[in-house]
Amino acid sequence: MKFTGHTMALRPYIVGNWKMNGTRAMLAEARAIGRVASRYPDIDVGLAPPFTLLHPMVEAVPELEVGGQDCHASVSGAFTGDISAAMLADAGARFTIVGHSERRQFHGEGNEEVRGKAEAALAADLSVILCVGETEVERDSGHAEAVVSAQLDGSLPRGQGAAAKLAIAYEPVWAIGTGRVPQVSDVAAMHRAIRAKLLAVYGEAGAGVRILYGGSVNAGNAAELLAVDEVAGALVGGASLVAESFAAIINAANMLHDA
Ligand code: PGA
Repeated sequence: MKFTGHTMALRPYIVGNWKMNGTRAMLAEARAIGRVASRYPDIDVGLAPPFTLLHPMVEAVPELEVGGQDCHASVSGAFTGDISAAMLADAGARFTIVGHSERRQFHGEGNEEVRGKAEAALAADLSVILCVGETEVERDSGHAEAVVSAQLDGSLPRGQGAAAKLAIAYEPVWAIGTGRVPQVSDVAAMHRAIRAKLLAVYGEAGAGVRILYGGSVNAGNAAELLAVDEVAGALVGGASLVAESFAAIINAANMLHDA
């Protein structure tokens, strides 16, 4: 069976990140994704729509795990335009993404802030998908693993039980939305390094943290990427906007799981 983590088999986890895409007309797509997800009880399927669609999606597609794309580190306050983890939970979210490279790049979020967000989400009883990944310059200069290791050191949530509600998404910045994906051997090496870090930080609990790959995952390359050792799932942007292509990725995860 594939998807064997360090010591235990991990449930495959396929998550769609709609980014700043989608109005209520897109709920039909979410319903179609929900129908596919309910055919595969052994695969966890999540969707992170824009905040405006969170509650409508929870109501329209109860079989999907719906989550946020970001949250603020504070519970409430004078933070115009931000949203707290408690608000996400109140809208029916079960998880949130934090530390996505588009937040790091366009909103200047650093590791410490990302860690604050992750810990706030856990405190609101949300699961967390923490994103890390190197830029192309960092990869080309041979620093990819050091960069990701430093991101994890700075942004992994600490505290009792943190590992139990955590997933990591390894997303090379240069692979996001570009149609380019790393060599399978590079994905494998990075995922192994992330696992070693998780074990060092969380002890045995670190073995249960799912490590997803993200960056230009599509129907054509999903099976190959998901088959890599220590890849327990995928965080999917563009290909999650169309039910047919997202369904093919979920299907690939299921075929590997059954194999
Ligand atoms: P992509 O985005 O699948 O469109 O490359 C992935 C992500 O940013 O999570």
